[in-house]
Amino acid sequence: TRSINLAVIPGDGIGPEVVEQGLKVLNAVLPQDVKLETTEYDFGARRYHATGETLTDADTEALKGHDAILLGAIGDPSVPSGVLERGFLLKLRFAFDHHVNLRPSKLLPGVATPLAGQPEIDFVVVREGTEGPYTGNGGTIRKGTPHEVATEVSVNTAYGVERVVRDAFERATARPRKKLALIHKNNVLAYAGHLWTDVFHRVAAEYPEVTTEYMHVDAATIYLVTQPERFDVIVTDNLFGDIITDLAAAVSGGIGVAASGNINPSRAFPSMFEPVHGSAPDIAGQGKADPTATVLSVALLLRHLGYETEAARVEEAVAADLGGRGTAARTTEEIGDALAARVAG
Ligand code: IPM
Ligand code: MN
Repeated sequence: TRSINLAVIPGDGIGPEVVEQGLKVLNAVLPQDVKLETTEYDFGARRYHATGETLTDADTEALKGHDAILLGAIGDPSVPSGVLERGFLLKLRFAFDHHVNLRPSKLLPGVATPLAGQPEIDFVVVREGTEGPYTGNGGTIRKGTPHEVATEVSVNTAYGVERVVRDAFERATARPRKKLALIHKNNVLAYAGHLWTDVFHRVAAEYPEVTTEYMHVDAATIYLVTQPERFDVIVTDNLFGDIITDLAAAVSGGIGVAASGNINPSRAFPSMFEPVHGSAPDIAGQGKADPTATVLSVALLLRHLGYETEAARVEEAVAADLGGRGTAARTTEEIGDALAARVAG
């Protein structure tokens, strides 16, 4: 029999509520013969206050034993900004070499967008996840004086850039339109920009069926709003990817439906799937959070583990549910129940 050994990290704020619904849908969609085993971990603000720990070596060892990780959200106003972000989320991405940060954007029928009309939006951003300005490589001198100097070094390796660029070409190849855009800023970032551009062109020669384009990141923010339909697959650096995926979420249904996967394609370490949204402490515990982004992250998790049919079924359920949602407000649980019923039916 097949089995999934899943680590579950409900986390802070609305995390536990949305994860509960994600697991409900996962249970409902999995075939009878697949044994789902879950282990819950209490990472997040509560544990940090109790022990001062964010993610210990023993924690990463324990997580390594799982097939995948489902994360709700980590973060709370009671913890200084950056502590949990760096000490937990980024630490885990680096520890498990999650170099493909996958963030699809699809505007589904019946979903509101701030853009005029109902543009065709169906693209996926492959954001590099382990390099760039996220490596914590920098420093400050003369701190606190008027002459303070701070540096934040963006680290880009040929190895790191090539593997994520290849992943993006593979994803573009598998999609009907077979288009790939490299987004960077090579008119200003002379070193990293050129490394990315050189690698991109070298790898492109191996994928003649993929149509490629290059775009500066500032121009890309214009096109994401004025012509989002032109994008199919985007590959970009860690920080540019962080920024443009928030914009992408905003134009394609909002943060309530934006899913993501922190993926290690080699499967050497478990990949982690999480909604793009944060812990939203202002609405925590009120049943107001939309669990759709978590449910769509469950679809990415299923696809990563080879359950393509089930992944597609979850995505179809979300599409049908959003289309028929109407204006009546539903609770977190009601949306989860509706989605679970759809994938089961
Ligand atoms: C994201 C978040 C994180 C990031 C923060 C919380 C470290 O914004 O997942 O997009 O910058 O990657
Ligand atoms: Mn972000």
